[in-house]
Amino acid sequence: MGESERVGAAFFQSFHAVMLNDLGVVLPALVSGNDLPGFTEAWDDHLAAVAVHTVMEEGVEGVGLGAIAMLDHYLGGVLGLARFAAEHAQESVAQAAVTAAIERGAISLECALGTYQAMVEDHLKHEEAVIVPLVARLPPPGSRNSAIGAWPRAWPMGGSSIL
Ligand SMILES: [Fe+2]
Ligand SMILES: [Fe+2]
Repeated sequence: MGESERVGAAFFQSFHAVMLNDLGVVLPALVSGNDLPGFTEAWDDHLAAVAVHTVMEEGVEGVGLGAIAMLDHYLGGVLGLARFAAEHAQESVAQAAVTAAIERGAISLECALGTYQAMVEDHLKHEEAVIVPLVARLPPPGSRNSAIGAWPRAWPMGGSSIL
């Protein structure tokens, strides 16, 4: 694994560590302290950070492809975006449940947050078990484009989804 791959994998895993800290330490402490305004602020920050991370992984239609499509491009379609995108969609439902639980109080919030936390932990374990080892299998930077074809970077023309 070259330097850029090491940095990429470390960045990916560091963000996961931040998410786990949010869900295992920061947010539960605000719930148990019944600090709902503090929770709302920290929750908004969490959602914003997750949105950035999801864009890095999935890309944005009409703008650019993400890390999962990049790995698929260089490794012959071994990964597939759809299964990870489906997990992200499930997380969005659980996130909405947490947001809705804020106004119902700490007990509802604790339940919704626990459900979301368990879902995220499973998702991150899945990603780290499958994606991170593939980063190590990327062809060396100098050989990538000549051996396999240039990474298109931009979303395919015509605005079609790659799902
Ligand atoms: Fe993800
Ligand atoms: Fe991730």
